[in-house]
Amino acid sequence: MNETIKHYDTVDFSGDGNALAIIDQTKLPGELIILELDTAESIWEAIHNLRVRGAPAIGVAAAIGIAVLMKKSEAKEVSEFDREFNEYKDYLETSRPTAVNLFWALEEMKKVLDRQDLAGVPERKTALIRRAKELREEDIDVCKRIGEYGLTLLKEGDGILTHCNAGSLATVKYGTATSPMYLAHEKGMKIHVFADETRPLLQGARLTAFELHNAGIDTTLICDNMSQTVMRNGWVNIVFVGCDRVALNGDACNKIGTSMVALAAKRNGVPFYVCAPTSTIDFETKTGEEIEIEERKPEEVTEMWYREPMAPNGVKVYNPAFDVTDHDLITGIITEYGILRPPYQEALEKLRDQIRSRE
Ligand code: MRU
Repeated sequence: MNETIKHYDTVDFSGDGNALAIIDQTKLPGELIILELDTAESIWEAIHNLRVRGAPAIGVAAAIGIAVLMKKSEAKEVSEFDREFNEYKDYLETSRPTAVNLFWALEEMKKVLDRQDLAGVPERKTALIRRAKELREEDIDVCKRIGEYGLTLLKEGDGILTHCNAGSLATVKYGTATSPMYLAHEKGMKIHVFADETRPLLQGARLTAFELHNAGIDTTLICDNMSQTVMRNGWVNIVFVGCDRVALNGDACNKIGTSMVALAAKRNGVPFYVCAPTSTIDFETKTGEEIEIEERKPEEVTEMWYREPMAPNGVKVYNPAFDVTDHDLITGIITEYGILRPPYQEALEKLRDQIRSRE
């Protein structure tokens, strides 16, 4: 593959505007395949099976997905059109449970239909497409702003550790946790990144190590059980991770294993930052306890990636896809509006009120 991944957007409309176009992340790093999806089932499958994954990318994919599905609608009456929209929305919401961006983006799309000025079906179709395009553009801008705030925490020569892929591939562009890394690299700063491989689906190895290495950033891949060692060795100055849902008290749900990184960071005195666009903050969920954690199939642990099964046939497997990092382990939450510091509930309530007053 000669192209660098930065030449591609993770999620977009297809060239003719009739389909959702995504990079098939299950094929990386070996093959760069762009899929064009124009049925509800194929969009649902792509989200469920992590062809498109990462909280912001899932949200934008759902928004573009529902816009292209509704563009094809044959409904004549607004009531019929809206009923169809709600059916697609309910269906797409069942594709994955944890990342709040999926629900947020579909809700943003629904708000379009609540507008009084869109009297007919054609106007509603156009408005849905426009809103999906806006959400896509906003994601790029938000990630860039998170990167700019993150960059203020970095200095020449820093070692940075990250877990899973909160990279360009998890968003439309730039990523959240990787955004400060890309901006530092662009400025010619010397940084070094440790990427946790991230069992069981290897998002760190297949995606983060791939995209950072591909961009020319000095990157070392480590197994998940090595992060304590590299921190103890003094090689890590800061941790940046993404997240799938932040609760009102600052508890942050992210890829399984993130909380272990946070514990090791605390022990070693390494600052631990969660990068979270406000679309990832769930102001309605009080604590991490309330967040639904996706459980995935046992084969991801026992046989996926191996030439033959690596566990005894029939053994019990527990495979939660996410965990919650308690807010007291988090040094700061980097949003597009700035870096939030403890006490998080106070900071998040203030941010929520600011956002709502602008709506
Ligand atoms: O299961 P995945 O690969 O969708 O999990 C992704 C993560 O946990 C990311 O860290 C998170 O979505 C943030 S992406 C900017």
